Amino acid sequence: MPIMYLRPSSIDNISPTVLLSVAMKRSHYCGQLTAKHVDNEVVLNGWVHRRRDHGGLTFIDLRDREGLVQVVFNPQISEAIHEQAHTLRSEFVIEVKGKVALRPEGTENRDLPTGEVEILADDLVILNPALTPPFLIEDDGEPSEALRLKYRYLDLRRPSVQQNLILRHRLSKTMRRFLDDRDFLEIETPFLTKSTPEGARDYLVPSRLNSGEFYALPQSPQLFKQILMVSGFDRYYQVVRCFRDEDLRADRQPEFTQIDIEMSFIEQEDILSMMEDFLKTIFSEVKGIAPETPIPRLTYKEAMARFGVDKPDLRFGLELKDLSDLVLKSDFKVFRQAVEKKGSVKGINAKGLAKLSRKEIEELTQKAIELGAKGLAWMKVTEEGLEAPIAKFFKPELLKEIRECLEGVPGDLLLFCADKDEVVHQVLGSLRLVLGKQLNLIDPLVFKPLWVTDFPLLEYNEDEKRYVARHHPFTAPMDEDLELLSSDPPQVRAKAYDLVLNGVEIGGGSIRIYKRDIQMKMFDLLGIQKEEAESKFGFLLEAFQYGAPPHGGIAFGFDRIAAILAGVDSIREVIAFPKTQKGICMMTNAPSSVTPKQLKELHIRKESIL
Ligand code: AMO
Ligand code: AMP
Repeated sequence: MPIMYLRPSSIDNISPTVLLSVAMKRSHYCGQLTAKHVDNEVVLNGWVHRRRDHGGLTFIDLRDREGLVQVVFNPQISEAIHEQAHTLRSEFVIEVKGKVALRPEGTENRDLPTGEVEILADDLVILNPALTPPFLIEDDGEPSEALRLKYRYLDLRRPSVQQNLILRHRLSKTMRRFLDDRDFLEIETPFLTKSTPEGARDYLVPSRLNSGEFYALPQSPQLFKQILMVSGFDRYYQVVRCFRDEDLRADRQPEFTQIDIEMSFIEQEDILSMMEDFLKTIFSEVKGIAPETPIPRLTYKEAMARFGVDKPDLRFGLELKDLSDLVLKSDFKVFRQAVEKKGSVKGINAKGLAKLSRKEIEELTQKAIELGAKGLAWMKVTEEGLEAPIAKFFKPELLKEIRECLEGVPGDLLLFCADKDEVVHQVLGSLRLVLGKQLNLIDPLVFKPLWVTDFPLLEYNEDEKRYVARHHPFTAPMDEDLELLSSDPPQVRAKAYDLVLNGVEIGGGSIRIYKRDIQMKMFDLLGIQKEEAESKFGFLLEAFQYGAPPHGGIAFGFDRIAAILAGVDSIREVIAFPKTQKGICMMTNAPSSVTPKQLKELHIRKESIL
């Protein structure tokens, strides 16, 4: 009987005829065979996961991207094939033909989805032998990251890593479908382009045809998507690679993927509400659960005041409390002086941590100092009240007020930081996260999104002694703050918003400036001279004069969303070929040196490399 070349249903909807036309012999994926396939003749392709010889039989666990299945080679079926099976080693690539059978009673493996069945092999082709891999292709006993990245092709065979990439694919399909259903057009924009300011350094590409000139790889398609709005493509999206030469962390890669979105004739509310549906759809289709809507919102100011950061993790409490007014009544100089110098004193209640030893409190203090604090004051809540060496500087009534403000109950440890607001927020915002983990307050299965709105339009850059755009220079100021642009720039709020999920910034966007004069004024505020504005952004300024519609948008960090959905700590786990903290691809050894000839063609002199 001819074998049916059907592709299992969980895989993409590629029609069987397409598969036939590429002459695939495989009939099923290993991981999908169950009791309902008993007596089917199947052809499997895959990698030998393990070989066992037992009672005159040879057993192979055969693995492909969908899982494992047991294959049995019985000399009574074919002596020759059994002999051949005996030569198999881990990671050999083979093709097996055989019949699906129920495993003999008592030999089922309940831990394996295919554990009820086995394949009684009657044919075997060794497609390619393999060296012994440097680590086991298993989820247990994870190899070092360096080894994983060097042999990424083997690491990518591990089931958990495969699942991450399959999830990433499903996520991208869901996102695309959501946007397609709402009439968004996917339009590609160039990679070899001009600098787009998003706050990071550019990756530059020398031009061979234009001596001494460089392209910049885009930090985002920001300017192109705005130009597309001027062109009338009023709903645009792109799943797009962005390049940023910045210091790398678990949630940052030098090249990463955005779901970039822009719309015309809309206001902030339209974007926020559509993107809530977007998030809900992604979660319900990929994860089977959906976060509650409407998604809560905090202004930037509130987020900073209550959590010390602009991307608070709302899965737990431990909010910061402002004690600045109260401590003015104390005799503790450190606190009073901080408030008198226009700083603040804030506290956080480390629930139940009064049991910490002096040494452990000293460790927390060290952490605070590393984060920029001058010290970390503390008080323990006992049945008798607040106890601490610094308690003597506070009257009993004042101690009571402090305890009440921080809702302290016996057994709690109150921690205080006194300094400039930025330092207090930086220190207590980070300690809050440390304590949240230490106290096991963070449920990894809970998803708490949050909109942060009303960001300041500008921030002062001490190094450059000028204002820089907090989001990017194309973000519109709030209408009601327009007047402040000349009189009090730091107070101007932007029509900008971030979507935060479990303490991770997963997306950010804004309503844009679409009038030339306001854009020029913005450049002026940022210390960008007229000539510089013309040379860098002349095309945008010009385009604004030819009928630019009001517009705005958002970009999501696709890798970050995938990492959260996959439940992993680093976006490296959801990127097929990620780079290390130093921006190196361990598998290919990029970046690498180039030949003098290549440099010459690019008009670069070797000695100009410092
Ligand atoms: P922004 O710079 O906020 O906005 O970027 C949007 C989102 O991209 C993700 N992201 C990153 N992910 C991984 N590695 C990185 N190095 C990295 N940098 C950013 C974050 C972030 O929220 N053009 C604007 C968007 C707009 O205004 O529409 C922009 O790029 O999740
Ligand atoms: P000192 O008077 O410097 O010995 O500090 C007394 C306590 O206050 C110590 O526990 C210090 O860690 C703490 N402390 C010092 N400076 C600060 C500060 N700026 N904010 C919070 N606590 C501080």
